[in-house]
Amino acid sequence: MPARTGALTPKKVEITSRWLPLLAFVAVLPCVGAAAELTTTPPTYAKDVAPIFQEKCQNCHRQGAMAPMSLVTYEEVRPWAKSIRQRVATRQMPPWHLDPTVGVQKFANDISLSSSQISTITRWVDAGAPLGDPKDMPPAKQWPDEEGWQLAKQFGQPDLVLKSETFTVAAKGQDQWLKPLTATNLTEPRWVRAVEIRPMTAAGRRVTHHAIAHLQQEEADNPSAATGGILMEWAVNKNYDIYRANSGKLMLPGSRIWWELHLHSVGEQITDHVELAVYFYPKGQEPEHRTTLTAFEGVEGSFGQSSLDIPPNSLAQTEGFTVLRQAARIENFQPHMHLRGKSMSMEAILPDGSRRMIGSVDHFNFNWMTNYIFADDSAPVLPKGTVIHITAWFDNTVNNKSNPDPNQWVGWGDRTVEEMAHMWVNLTYMSDEEYSAWAAKNKPATNRVAR
Ligand code: HEC
Repeated sequence: MPARTGALTPKKVEITSRWLPLLAFVAVLPCVGAAAELTTTPPTYAKDVAPIFQEKCQNCHRQGAMAPMSLVTYEEVRPWAKSIRQRVATRQMPPWHLDPTVGVQKFANDISLSSSQISTITRWVDAGAPLGDPKDMPPAKQWPDEEGWQLAKQFGQPDLVLKSETFTVAAKGQDQWLKPLTATNLTEPRWVRAVEIRPMTAAGRRVTHHAIAHLQQEEADNPSAATGGILMEWAVNKNYDIYRANSGKLMLPGSRIWWELHLHSVGEQITDHVELAVYFYPKGQEPEHRTTLTAFEGVEGSFGQSSLDIPPNSLAQTEGFTVLRQAARIENFQPHMHLRGKSMSMEAILPDGSRRMIGSVDHFNFNWMTNYIFADDSAPVLPKGTVIHITAWFDNTVNNKSNPDPNQWVGWGDRTVEEMAHMWVNLTYMSDEEYSAWAAKNKPATNRVAR
């Protein structure tokens, strides 16, 4: 074992007969797989870790971006080594809280670390977080100018720009939720092919935890429905949505944007507003499919009348079942729970009774409303009659660090100290013919179409 000296052997060990049995044991270790790491030199910041941070952390962790500290230079990173190890090993950072062992694993917006990247970072911290040879440092990453619309490169200037009202966030204080309305002033229906949201300034991006633009409009087939669903949610690292080919959202005359801005104090007073850019399909070039946002309940009963019942100092599990009345492609999913939320999964029960796990957010974190968007070739397509089965788990014990009070009973409610359980999903419906054509081409394992 030639390389097993130096940095990994902190103290020189006198080899006496007392150590011999141990040595014999160590000698067989390299055959044991993971232990092979013992024989390699530890990773260094300059060579191994900085490239990972450039790729996976610095879009949020750099000067002026929204994360609390910059992770660019070694001097900035070093004091956080222990915390980095903890957040990375528990898959809390980057904020991608999906169980990597079940369900579909190919996403268009995956920001997670690979297991080997996690191992590099934890081994680096365990070895004392060394800098290594500064000559190995990759050149500093250049970040795009965040002031313009990012979609302008692809689509030019937006067709419509809508502004929220101006807000001021105090230097110190509790989180705030602002819910202003903005009229779209559309006089005819228009199909949306892409949307982008941005807080207007770098300071505004730091105080904006997330910004959701709901579309409110009266639908002809359901005049009481005051919602056309969420157009988009802005969160750090999520700036725009381009709808899949031949699909889009429909904006009607009289529609309004109902903003939901979650703002938090960062130590200085900041005033800003949020803007939404809308790109329409050209008139006469309407897409065939309308993408609609649906909330699949993860608890029996619908909003407000739900049976949610979470006793103090306990774990609770709830389930919800919804039948797809038409074949559909699942474009994304985004669990919605509050402070006691622990995990949520979505499973498809196919018409022949077979079950298929779609995805499970097994370490939900209320601070992050991450939207998991499937890649073009991985978005599940499900036949008519499929039952969408949502399971939600809540942790109302002291073990849940976000729990404001484990001695409280918790029921359904809007406030974050109450709970909710639903999965936001964009669905693109298909006709039976379209589904049959899709199934003939893609031959899903279970493709018996319900009549
Ligand atoms: C999408 C933006 C984003 C990305 C990507 C991201 N972070 Fe974070 N990070 C944040 C924000 C915002 C916080 C503070 C809120 C929180 O703790 O969730 C944070 C908190 C942290 C903390 C805890 C700081 C503390 O106060 O103890 C650590 C450590 C951390 N991030 C490390 C990383 C590392 C390492 C990566 C890359 C592997 C990474 N983050 C990627 C936004 C991000």
